Amino acid sequence: MYSPQKDNSDLWEKIREQYDSLPYPKTAVEKPPQDDILGLYNHNIINAFYKRDKTIIDASKTVILDAACGSGYKTLLLAVANPGAKIVGFDLSRNSLEVAQARFAYHGLECPDFYCMNLYELPELGLTFDYINLDETLFLFEDIAVSLSILKSVLKAQGIIRTNLHSYWQRSHFYRAQNTFKMMGMFDGNPGDLEIDSVRDLFKSLKDSVNLKQLAWKPEFAGNPEYYMMNFFLQGDKGYTINQLFNALEKADLEFISMLNWREWDLLELFENSEDLPSFLALSLPSLTVAEQLHFFEMLNPIHRLFDFWCGHPDLTTYSEQSSEWTHEDWLKVTVHLHPQLKREEVKQELLDAIKLFQPFEITKHLSIHNRTSLIDTTLASIVYLPLFENTQSMLSLIERWCKLHPLNLASLEETTTLEALNTLKQFLINQEDLGYLLLDKQK
Ligand SMILES: C[S@@+](CC[C@H](N)C(=O)[O-])C[C@H]1O[C@@H](n2cnc3c(N)ncnc32)[C@H](O)[C@@H]1O
Repeated sequence: MYSPQKDNSDLWEKIREQYDSLPYPKTAVEKPPQDDILGLYNHNIINAFYKRDKTIIDASKTVILDAACGSGYKTLLLAVANPGAKIVGFDLSRNSLEVAQARFAYHGLECPDFYCMNLYELPELGLTFDYINLDETLFLFEDIAVSLSILKSVLKAQGIIRTNLHSYWQRSHFYRAQNTFKMMGMFDGNPGDLEIDSVRDLFKSLKDSVNLKQLAWKPEFAGNPEYYMMNFFLQGDKGYTINQLFNALEKADLEFISMLNWREWDLLELFENSEDLPSFLALSLPSLTVAEQLHFFEMLNPIHRLFDFWCGHPDLTTYSEQSSEWTHEDWLKVTVHLHPQLKREEVKQELLDAIKLFQPFEITKHLSIHNRTSLIDTTLASIVYLPLFENTQSMLSLIERWCKLHPLNLASLEETTTLEALNTLKQFLINQEDLGYLLLDKQK
């Protein structure tokens, strides 16, 4: 059914040639993944399941596919961020896969099963996956709904797909540049050094005031071939709108779960005062669907190069209850987890130093997934965060720690009650969960 020959095999040949000659990403094989905290965070699959189901899965029992894995840097991140998971990868470009294999060998990690093949052949492997990562590739396909359907056909019932599309509005200048270079015959073969020189000469000869030069030309990258290949000469590159993304999901019968960087798609953050919106907006915003909100955001502020999203089988995104809506009884059953990307010796050491010196602990600098700053006071750092470096904590044990440190209510000088302790901890935990540092497991 999904024969690669039927889908523009000339283009696939060009794409394969491009990545055989310049495997992507160019990231050195020796680069240690442990230092790439944000990369590990983004590839930790617990985030996706937590977002959809509010449960903390055991990633070591899962099978993860890195589809079109290229030179395998992200595959390595997936392996390190999800220890024990079985990893499988494939790509059209054999040279890229050789780099990927060398990467795992260099870091002494078990090599995933790598296959040299076209995405259209995926069902022939006879495997199914809990999580599929298709990064920086979906936009190359002729019909993204068909590609998504293929991924869906090998996705387990509760599985999640993470993939992304180039934003048409954020990259429209690059599409104009690509059109220009197509007109100049530069895409007839596979562009190389000659075409790169021509583009560089063209931009240098244009006046600085020319609109395309202002938007697309970055002189600081003029000597970097990857800049030309990934922007001006990216074979098969296409831009998408939010509406096209949602139409494709509908066609593939997949359910949108969330953007990966959902905190950066918050419409209310675009307003000077989100508490005082113009009345037509205040009335209409709450009734907009998720797709409409994202579309609105994209129209007002197309700053994201990628729509980087999770999706899965339909009708699974049913858990919409926020932790702020839980009852006291619910809270007493909660187990608190530290996000695995914070569980690092140097973070624990800094926390201990801050506690000793009675200084606030700046957690944000150890995992910067948003541009908000969070300073944690010494008491909460020692009561909540410190024990989490050893083990997950039940709400009851945190309440007990609070009462030990604060046996008396400072205002009334009466004995601190469980309810008072619970209320204070609750507010703190809701806030830290929202920032992405803590995960709250309420037994359902
Ligand atoms: C921009 S690179 C992304 C590599 C990797 N996913 C990452 O984000 O680092 C695109 C990759 O997709 C591969 N690719 C493109 N079309 C493909 C297809 N139809 N089947 C398998 N791989 C494909 C290319 O060979 C290339 O390695």
